[in-house]
Amino acid sequence: MEMITNPSISKKGFEDLLINAINKSNEGITISSIDQPDSPLIFVNDGFERLTGYTKEDVIGKNCRFLQGKETDHAAVDVLRHAISNKQQTTVELLNYKKDGTPFWNRLSITPLKNESGITTHYVGVQSDITEIRETQKELTEANNILALFKDKINFDLYQARIAQSFIMPSILPIDERVRFSSLFEPKEQIGGDFYDVIELDKGIYGILIADVTGHGIPAALLTFMTSFAFQSSALKFYSPAKVVTATNEKLFNKMPRGSFITMFYAIYDSNNKNLTYTQAGHPEAFILRPSSMELLPLTTQGSPVGVLKITLVNYSESKIQLEVGDKFLLYTDAILEVRNEADVMMSNAMLTSFLIKNAHSSIDELLTRVKMFGLSYSGKKTFGDDFTMVGFEVLA
Ligand SMILES: Cc1cc2nc3c(=O)[nH]c(=O)nc-3n(C[C@H](O)[C@H](O)[C@H](O)COP(=O)(O)O)c2cc1C
Repeated sequence: MEMITNPSISKKGFEDLLINAINKSNEGITISSIDQPDSPLIFVNDGFERLTGYTKEDVIGKNCRFLQGKETDHAAVDVLRHAISNKQQTTVELLNYKKDGTPFWNRLSITPLKNESGITTHYVGVQSDITEIRETQKELTEANNILALFKDKINFDLYQARIAQSFIMPSILPIDERVRFSSLFEPKEQIGGDFYDVIELDKGIYGILIADVTGHGIPAALLTFMTSFAFQSSALKFYSPAKVVTATNEKLFNKMPRGSFITMFYAIYDSNNKNLTYTQAGHPEAFILRPSSMELLPLTTQGSPVGVLKITLVNYSESKIQLEVGDKFLLYTDAILEVRNEADVMMSNAMLTSFLIKNAHSSIDELLTRVKMFGLSYSGKKTFGDDFTMVGFEVLA
C-alpha cells in the first residue's frame, strides 16, 4: 500500500487499521465486481450489516439490488444502471428495505475502481441512512406549504380589506365649475393608515379632510375606519372645522389602542365667498399656493393630535383665509416631508417650498403629480417609505 506515509507503522499494521476504520464507519461500504456476471458484492463492511440487518453471508455473491422493493423509485435505479454501464460515478437517494422489511432512505454513492491497465473492474458503494433527514425535509416542505397557503390567505384578506378601505375615501371627487378637486393616494402596504375625504356639506360648501393614523397595516387600517365614521358623523353636524375635530376627538378618546393617535387637518371651503376655514390637529401644516404673488402661505392652528387627550384638555381653534382665483390649497401626509436622498438627508422645507412656487401656475392635478415625482426623484426610489397621500383644490372662479 503506497499510501503509508508514516514509517512507524508496518504494512500489515496499516492494513489492519484500514479494515478497522472501514468496519467502524457508520456508513455502509460495499465493493462489487462488475467484471463478473450480474456484478456481485465481494465485500461489505460492518456498517452495512448494522444499517441493513443483512449479514456478510447473506449478501456476498449477490447483486445489491436485493435492497430494493415495492416503493423504490425506478428513476433512481435507472440512474445507477446508466452510470455503471458508462463507468461513471453517481449519487442517488432511493428507498431501500432492511432484512426485516423496514424501509429506509439510502443516500448511495457509487464510484468506479480501475485496475493497473485502466479498466474498471470494481465499484465501491457508500450507503448512508438519511431517513431522518428526509423526514425532516418532508415536514419542512409540509410546513412551507401550510405557510404558503396561510400567506395567500393573508394576502387575500389584505386585498379584501384594501377594497373595504377604499370605500371610506371618495370614489369620485365633487365636481364644481368654481373649484377643482384632486387627490393622490398610495398606501405603502396593501392597506394603510392614511386617508382623506372630500364632502359636499351644502351647495358649493365642501369639507376637506386628510388624516394619518399611527402605524401601518391592519391595526392602523382598522383605526382609519373608526376615525372616518367618527369624522363623517361630526362633519355633517357642524360647519366649523374646530367643532368637527373636537367632536371627532371626543368620539375616539378612550377607544384607541394605547400609544395610537391620529393627526388630521380639516378645512371647510365655501366656494360662494371663497372663504377657507381650517383646523390643524397634530398634522403637518397645509399650504395655499398663490400664483398671483408667487407665494406659498402656510396654514396652521397648532392643535394636538386626535384620540390622545380628554375633551377638557384640548381646545381646537380655527382660522380663516380669503382665497382668490388661481389659488391652490394643498393637504398632504408626512411621506413627502420625510423623504430622504441616497445620503440619508431629508428634503428641506426650503427645497419643497421653492419647488411648489416654481410650479405655482400648474393645474392642481399636474401639481400633485409633480410633487410626487419630485419626492421620488429626490429619494432615487420607485416608491415612498410611507403611505403617500395628497389632496387639494384649485380656485377656478
Ligand atoms: C457498489 C455498488 C453498491 C450498490 N448499492 C446499492 C444499494 O445499497 N441499494 C440499491 O438499491 N442499489 C445498490 N446498487 C445498485 C444495484 O446493484 C444495481 O446496479 C441497480 O439496481 C441497477 O441495476 P439493475 O437495473 O440491473 O437492477 C449498488 C451498485 C453498486 C455497483
